[in-house]
Amino acid sequence: MIKVLFVCLGNICRSPLAEGIFNAKVKSMGLDKHLQSDSAGTSDYHIGELPDERTLSCAKRKGIAIQHRGRQVHRTDFRDFAYIVAMDEHNLKNLNQLKEKTPHPTKEVYLMRNFVAGSTGLPVPDPYYGGEKEFEEVYAILDEALDGFLNHLKEAHPQLAEKGK
Ligand code: 4NP
Repeated sequence: MIKVLFVCLGNICRSPLAEGIFNAKVKSMGLDKHLQSDSAGTSDYHIGELPDERTLSCAKRKGIAIQHRGRQVHRTDFRDFAYIVAMDEHNLKNLNQLKEKTPHPTKEVYLMRNFVAGSTGLPVPDPYYGGEKEFEEVYAILDEALDGFLNHLKEAHPQLAEKGK
């Protein structure tokens, strides 16, 4: 099993949506026995909370199920997850700082949009102070970036390409 962790600031908007979209794609590819995801926030603002209502309605419009309670990223995540994917540069910086305090200081943390040619370095924008339009934008950005990420995973782990239906 390859484990993937998506990380944003609050773990109520971008990263749970990334987790939900990723899981739906993985299931439709028949890879759910081989790829598993979770999400977390760099902050402790929303620990134990359900995703933001706007996240849930955006997911519902797209037929995506999200089962998640907010949690903060933890040092042990660097041990437990093969891939840690940040939504923006702030998340990346915080994760890289936390990583220094773990036994895994050389582990690479990825930036979500770096899996899309031409979008390297761009953030998945924080939709917290936005509305439905901003959530739809985040959805479209994640949908594209997660396709890129899944292609990366299939190239890095050829056994996935064989196992998918
Ligand atoms: P997220 O969005 O990082 O995509 O979950 C945010 C959620 C909450 C806050 C900021 C961003 N906040 O400041 O509480």
